[in-house]
Amino acid sequence: MVILKSPKEIEKITASNRIVAKILKTLESEVARGVTTMQLNDLSERLTGENQAVPAFKGYRGYPFSLCTSVNHVVVHGFPNDTPLEEGDIVSLDFGILHDGYYGDAAITVAVGKISAPAMKLMQVTRESLYKGIEKAVPDGRLSDISHAVQTHVEAHGYSVVRKFVGHGIGSKLHEDPQIPNFGKAGTGVRLKPGMTLAIEPMVNEKGYEVRILEDGWTAVTEDGALSAHFEHTIAITEKGPVILSRSDGS
Ligand code: MF3
Ligand code: CO
Repeated sequence: MVILKSPKEIEKITASNRIVAKILKTLESEVARGVTTMQLNDLSERLTGENQAVPAFKGYRGYPFSLCTSVNHVVVHGFPNDTPLEEGDIVSLDFGILHDGYYGDAAITVAVGKISAPAMKLMQVTRESLYKGIEKAVPDGRLSDISHAVQTHVEAHGYSVVRKFVGHGIGSKLHEDPQIPNFGKAGTGVRLKPGMTLAIEPMVNEKGYEVRILEDGWTAVTEDGALSAHFEHTIAITEKGPVILSRSDGS
């Protein structure tokens, strides 16, 4: 069941997502050769506390950290570790919090120093595909219009969308209905309505869409070892169209 939120609730979801966006911005600015993903995780926890929030992922179904850090061929849910980031890496930072009863959730993929042109292109197309999806989050549209727009943009560039993981509704729970696949034909699924709050999160692989989960039970990697990128925004559907809530300046 898709829960529609009141304006008051959307204010709170906005506040949570602005905190997420602000923290992601700080984390992004800290990414550099030699920095470890565990240092980023620890920083995310400190900043979460300073914002009167609690990490959303830590303990969620047993996930052991506050931040997901997915480097190069890691698709999502990578564990922070003590390996220094290297020049040329790309790292996805996926972060969520709970604040005043409501969740925020967003992700960015960040370049470490100078990266290859193909890696840059993959990141750019993935970010664009998120915005293509968001554009379709309008009243009276259908859920799969979002999915289809993401898939079309990604595949037009020769990349593939991951099937195994999806976006989701968000509110007083981190994961609510509906599930939001990043693929599918347009014009199906639930009808989109003002008051829906959605986390849209394309995961895009440079080559095949297949993923494999490592022994830790979480880390998802590309089956073929090729690069993967991930961007996520939480948005609200309003009468006037989509509003991105996970922006630090509220713009
Ligand atoms: N953005 C991801 C999601 O919505 C992050 C979840 S990590 C988990 O699924 F640990 F919380 F599962
Ligand atoms: Co999410």
